[in-house]
Amino acid sequence: LIFTLVFLVIAECLRNRRPRNFPPGPLALPLVGNVFSLDLRNAHRAMTEVRLSETYGKVYSLKLDSTWTVVLNGLSTMQEALLNKGDILNDRPVIPLHFVILNGIIFTNGHSWKEQRRFALFTLKYFGVGKRSLESSILNEFIYLSKEFANKKGKPFNPHYIINKAVSNIICSLVFGQRFDYCDEKFLKMTHLVDKVAQIEGSIWTQLYNAFPMLMKHFPGPHHTVRKTYSEVLKLLKTEIDQHKKDLDPSEPRDFIDCYLNEIQKVMDSVFHEENLVMCVFDLFVAGTETTSTTLRWALLYMAKYTEIQEKVQAEIDRVIGQSRQPSMEDRPKLPYTDAVIHELQRISNIVPLSLPHVTKREVQLEGYKIPKGVTVIPNLTSVLFDKSTWETPYTFNPGHFLNKEGKFVKQAAFIPFSLGKRACLGENLARMELFLFFTSFMQRFTFSMPPGMEPVFKPQVGVTLKPSEYEICITQREVC
Ligand code: HEM
Repeated sequence: LIFTLVFLVIAECLRNRRPRNFPPGPLALPLVGNVFSLDLRNAHRAMTEVRLSETYGKVYSLKLDSTWTVVLNGLSTMQEALLNKGDILNDRPVIPLHFVILNGIIFTNGHSWKEQRRFALFTLKYFGVGKRSLESSILNEFIYLSKEFANKKGKPFNPHYIINKAVSNIICSLVFGQRFDYCDEKFLKMTHLVDKVAQIEGSIWTQLYNAFPMLMKHFPGPHHTVRKTYSEVLKLLKTEIDQHKKDLDPSEPRDFIDCYLNEIQKVMDSVFHEENLVMCVFDLFVAGTETTSTTLRWALLYMAKYTEIQEKVQAEIDRVIGQSRQPSMEDRPKLPYTDAVIHELQRISNIVPLSLPHVTKREVQLEGYKIPKGVTVIPNLTSVLFDKSTWETPYTFNPGHFLNKEGKFVKQAAFIPFSLGKRACLGENLARMELFLFFTSFMQRFTFSMPPGMEPVFKPQVGVTLKPSEYEICITQREVC
């Protein structure tokens, strides 16, 4: 037995040696690799820590399961990998927990991914992303949201679910061709399930399951409910699709689902089928709700903390827009301070700190290292969004990061919360519109403050995104003469 154990340990040590010319990293231990080099309750923080890149350089490696993971740090490394060598790095790895997600956009590869992505981008644009029609939907949604805010009469409440519903309704208008009442039973069920998916995805059990699937399947934990939760969401989406099929008029598509059903009939490409449609809708829902909603919740918390910044934004909006009309996308260039605040909110809240994983399609050279085919590559967006050589005060909320001396808005190449390259966020334009219109509308009509005696807490919770811990806030209507 001792001989076998010694043999296994030696074999493991040999297996855990980094290949020649492979990116360096901390010593990988037998069986557990580098798992204990990370704080598992805070894996994102451990992996994004500058400590590791200060010790091992801009490209380092970790053994988190039976395979190697390479972490990319810094803007130039990210540009080299995701822009110049994007064709080798555009694929996603297989994630054990996602055994039920085989179609859609986010976790597929090759021809199917290219076609679903192209189709989704085209259709979202067709239904108004970047256009007036979508602008009206967002502003209209704000009116419903503002009624909910006003009903609270300045008393403390948790804004999480109401903001989720408003943001979700924008995706609903694009995908289902309609918004839902905030009390609609089907809508409540859908938003609840999407929120549950986001929670499960971020739990410690999920991270353990993804690192050790063979072992973890024998332990109890919420990872076992994943299949059930996913199937419940997919069933709901399928009911909507069936309804669309019944009253589809191919000459007048109303939304994303109608366009996709037309595409299934029109093109003879086997990647367009109903299962793929359900998964695409699921992807747009999950990616499109959680992200924007989380950013807006961070925004309210920062405004409640930095009241002088909130007042400056309100003053700029009063000067440029006033109270007699709603904001519009055309106001953006005339609101440099507000624009800088929105960019800084996105930078500091850093909601997708490690982007999404990529995998090498074939061998690739990066920063002089050789990375073989099939290695998971993680773009550490944090290393760019908090790079101390770019940002004057990386860890402090400072809209000045996006303003020049004359107070004009300046773009920053290191502002990459949506990542880079062909696999970058598909919803970037939609998210930018939502953030601008919702945020300026909030600031135009309301003032946000913490309940008496409470201080904002900025410790993030790890989920699909880095989100603020649940909080209560007081929202009062502004009285502007
Ligand atoms: C992918 C960030 C909003 C849909 C991504 C990625 C990031 C990201 C970092 C991974 C890119 C990569 O793999 O390199 C964000 C942020 C958002 C946001 C910060 C808002 C503040 C949205 C919205 C939608 C959306 C509103 C809805 C349409 C997607 C999709 C992908 C994606 C479908 C996968 C793209 C692919 O694999 O080709 N997003 N996102 N996102 N996002 Fe977003």
